Amino acid sequence: MKRIMRMAVLAAACSAPVLAFANGNPQTRAAMTSAGCFGCHAVNHKVVGPAYSWIAYVFAHKPGAEVKLAHKIISGGTGRWNPWTGGIPMIPHPQLSLAQAEQMAAWVLAQHPVAPPKP
Ligand code: HEC
Repeated sequence: MKRIMRMAVLAAACSAPVLAFANGNPQTRAAMTSAGCFGCHAVNHKVVGPAYSWIAYVFAHKPGAEVKLAHKIISGGTGRWNPWTGGIPMIPHPQLSLAQAEQMAAWVLAQHPVAPPKP
């Protein structure tokens, strides 16, 4: 019994750092998975769209960033990340409410910020 307890404590200690890196609301992450966001984005590297960690860096402490990004998530578009994406636009997501898109923007901004590499 004592041994099992010790193992449980060890397991909890080992999983803690993993949880600490999982920034943002896990339910929002699940909603983003079903909306297909991870088909074009990853947290730490470019896929089709910029890494979420780069977006978090560029918009860190910018007032109104959540709302601005939410509108872009709903309407889609191109422009800001052209040097990295070659001008590929983000598809629009008109099925999302502004509140849902704001939650997703907040999730993106909660990622550990990383400066984008030189394009
Ligand atoms: C078809 C691929 C694709 C999908 C699907 C996609 N994105 Fe994007 N996303 C992009 C591209 C490309 C850009 C860069 C747009 C630009 O250059 O302004 C981008 C940019 C962004 C930005 C930064 C906008 C800015 O103005 O800096 C956010 C935030 C974002 N996406 C979130 C999401 C979320 C949340 C979803 C899911 C609802 C999603 N994306 C789905 C391709 C995609």
